[in-house]
Formats: sequence, structure tokens, C-alpha cells
Amino acid sequence: MLEIEELSAGYDRLEVLRGVNITVADGGSVVVMGANGAGKSTLCRAISGLIECRRGAIRFDGADISRVGTSERVRRGIVQVPEGRQVFPQMTVKENLRLGGWIHGKAKEAALREIYDLFPRLEERQGQNAGLLSGGEQQLLALGRAMMGRPKLLLLDEPTQGLSPVAIEQVAEALISIGRRGVSILLVEQNLALAEAVGRYAYVLETGRCAAEGPAAELLSSDVVAASYLGH
Ligand SMILES: Nc1ncnc2c1ncn2[C@@H]1O[C@H](COP(=O)(O)OP(=O)(O)O)[C@@H](O)[C@H]1O
Ligand SMILES: [Mg+2]
Repeated sequence: MLEIEELSAGYDRLEVLRGVNITVADGGSVVVMGANGAGKSTLCRAISGLIECRRGAIRFDGADISRVGTSERVRRGIVQVPEGRQVFPQMTVKENLRLGGWIHGKAKEAALREIYDLFPRLEERQGQNAGLLSGGEQQLLALGRAMMGRPKLLLLDEPTQGLSPVAIEQVAEALISIGRRGVSILLVEQNLALAEAVGRYAYVLETGRCAAEGPAAELLSSDVVAASYLGH
């Protein structure tokens, strides 16, 4: 469904991604690991269209989307959970969720019902201001808000940043249930436990290139990969 081929992207004169190749199959879950500064967030921005694709191509459902705008990419089914969650603290849980359903107009209420079925915790808290939620619950809210867009592909940029181990487990469970619903997942993550729990296939990004790839269970348990690229 998503094919990234020889992608180069960056900022002004800084070339961050230099010929990246990544594929996510229909219903697949792929994790991209790599040290700080490897270009993981830049990759997410290029896929969601926040920065331009300088060379190479990004194809989604067979169409070249390299020059397609961000909101059109959302309409086609690529929805990103932003780094740092970015929920609106002064708005209620429900209001935050409704924002995620902007592309569906009247179908929003049905989408909201689906999210509450997926994450009952959010229904319990629907009237509370998002700022009062714990970090883990805010991450669930960010996931729920993205799911309101009914994505075909969910893009996540380090969803466990700053979360406790218990909250990380909740995020893992949430992503596994999202995957079961047939949504493809591209997870950028430094937390090995989450990467192993969610990813079926893994890539290691090193200074803008894919340095290693393989089935997640094998690649992420390899001592060589852990020592060379992930700093474990
Ligand atoms: N908005 C930006 N403007 C200029 N350089 C940036 C910007 N964001 C990131 N960079 C640079 O791009 C490189 C990769 O950053 P990033 O994609 O954020 O890495 P990661 O998410 O893997 O930590 C770093 O050298 C970083 O300083
Ligand atoms: Mg990053």
C-alpha cells in the first residue's frame, strides 16, 4: 500500500533522507527505529506531506503521491499521530476527538462511536478537559483522534516519548487492536519493547539511510543491530 522508493528529503541545504526505501503492505505493521537525529521525524513529515519529496517517489495505493498536498493525503487515508501528542488541553476529550473527524462531515458521530468502542476509557472521560488526562491517556486520545480520520495507514512518531512503562503497554495494546481492524501501521519508535510488540517488519534508519531491515522479531533481537544502531 505504501511504497517509498529512493526518497530524499530535508530542510534548506540540509539533506536528511538520502535514498530511503521502505514498503508497508496492506494491513502490515512496520517499525522504523534509529538513534536521535537519524531522520525518523523527517521521514514522517515527508510521508504526510509536510516537507517536499526532493528525489525518489512515495506511492500509496498504487498512485504517486509525492506531489500531493497534506490534506489530500489525509483524505486518501494517511493519518499521522503527531510527535508529542498535541492534544488541546483546554478542550474536552470529545471535542478533541471530533477535530480528528473533520474530513467526514456528518459521518463524524458514527466514527466517534467506533472510537469509544475501541477505547472505552475515552468514553468514560469524554467530558473532561484533555489537559487533566494522564500522559498515557493523552496518547490514547491522540490515537483516537487520528482514528477518527478512518485511516488506511496510521503514521506514528515516537508515541511512547515520556510515558511510563505501564502507559507504554497500554499504547502497545491500543496499536495491536488498531492493527486487528485492518489498519496498516508505520511506527517510528526508539522503545524496543513497543517496536517488538507492534512491528512485524523493521527498518533501522542511520543518518538518512536504511542500514538494516528484516522481520522485526529477528532484526530487533540481533545484538549486532542493537549495539550498532540503537545504542543498547
Ligand atoms: N525543522 C528542521 N529544520 C532544519 N533541520 C532539521 C529540522 N528538523 C530536523 N532537522 C535536522 O534533521 C536531522 C534529522 O532530524 P529528525 O528527523 O528530527 O531525526 P529523528 O526524528 O530521527 O531524531 C537532524 O540533523 C536535525 O537537526
Ligand atoms: Mg524524531
